[in-house]
Amino acid sequence: MSSYLSLKGINKSYGDFVALDDVNLEIKKGEFVTFLGPSGSGKTTTLMIIAGFEKATRGEVEIEGLSLAGLDPQDRNIGIVFQNYALFPHKSAVENVYFPLQMRKVKRKEGMRRAEEMLELVGLKGFSHRHPKELSGGQQQRVALARALVFGPDLLLLDEPLGALDKNLREQMQIEIKRIQKKLGVTTIFVTHDQTEAMSMSDRIVIFSQGSIQQADAPLEIYHRPKTQFVADFIGESNLLAGKVVDAASGILSSPVLGDCTYSGDHQPAVENGQDVTIVLRPENLTISRDPIEGRMNGRMKIETIVNYGDNALVIGLSGGVPIRVRVLGADVVILSEGDECCFSWDEDAIFLVAE
Ligand SMILES: Nc1ncnc2c1ncn2[C@@H]1O[C@H](COP(=O)(O)OP(=O)(O)O)[C@@H](O)[C@H]1O
Ligand SMILES: [Mg+2]
Repeated sequence: MSSYLSLKGINKSYGDFVALDDVNLEIKKGEFVTFLGPSGSGKTTTLMIIAGFEKATRGEVEIEGLSLAGLDPQDRNIGIVFQNYALFPHKSAVENVYFPLQMRKVKRKEGMRRAEEMLELVGLKGFSHRHPKELSGGQQQRVALARALVFGPDLLLLDEPLGALDKNLREQMQIEIKRIQKKLGVTTIFVTHDQTEAMSMSDRIVIFSQGSIQQADAPLEIYHRPKTQFVADFIGESNLLAGKVVDAASGILSSPVLGDCTYSGDHQPAVENGQDVTIVLRPENLTISRDPIEGRMNGRMKIETIVNYGDNALVIGLSGGVPIRVRVLGADVVILSEGDECCFSWDEDAIFLVAE
């Protein structure tokens, strides 16, 4: 599918400070894309530039190849929900949702009918005449969502819309937002700093760090094939170990902690013999045992800490002075105690390399 929204070479500076540094991204029509990154990494700034509330220092935002540069926010057909994008307190829910239609000169009768319909879609049938203060936080966000969608936007931008909600309500709203987005097929950018939220909701995740995009890929691709050390560290848990490629053609590397070991060649970055790399090993891809396991690669460590979570446990050991984290099923850990020497083992598939 071809690109619908394009961000081309976006830079944003505030004085000497570079908030966005050459952001390039192509989003397809109907796609649900999540911007994920630490606080201050440039997610909101990018959204503001797309919406037209901020002006890029350099670069272009295009929808279907047409630049939005000359258009004020109200002339861009974009729906927005922010964490604190307040509803009008003196208007009822339905009046709030009707408002963008009123701005677009839709007649009151027709507009109110569409607003009612949209409230029904977001699960607020029967709440039309309540004022914001008579609605819960989750219900208010549903009204805000209805208001952002009622005029049939080209794009829906959601900036941490669930940040203020408690965990259960948050999970319920994640499912609702996905359902509504799918039903309407609206191209959506969702901003969060919560990686499970990003993993569960998105067609694609865009990882931001310090004003640049580190990686833009499907959730499992991001998880299993992080392209940079930042992504490997930021997403899930990782053991990041220093290594050097010995033989790129046969997939052999050496590492102070892991020794000489083989890795599978699939989906690895292009590397050369002698090149320094970071080896990424996920804790859940390691197992521990008293003795080496035949058919797997084995290292040795001394267990420092065991953290029990009930269904699983995190075992942290030291191998040659370097911490190694292993996730094990709860039952497996009873054979081991803090202070024990043990083996940790992995398959060659479990290794992925980051070359930077
Ligand atoms: N108006 C502004 N003036 C100066 N710096 C700003 C302004 N707006 C944002 N920034 C800075 O730009 C960076 C990116 O901010 P932001 O896009 O809000 O990050 P995020 O949404 O990822 O948390 C931050 O370091 C922030 O302090
Ligand atoms: Mg932000």
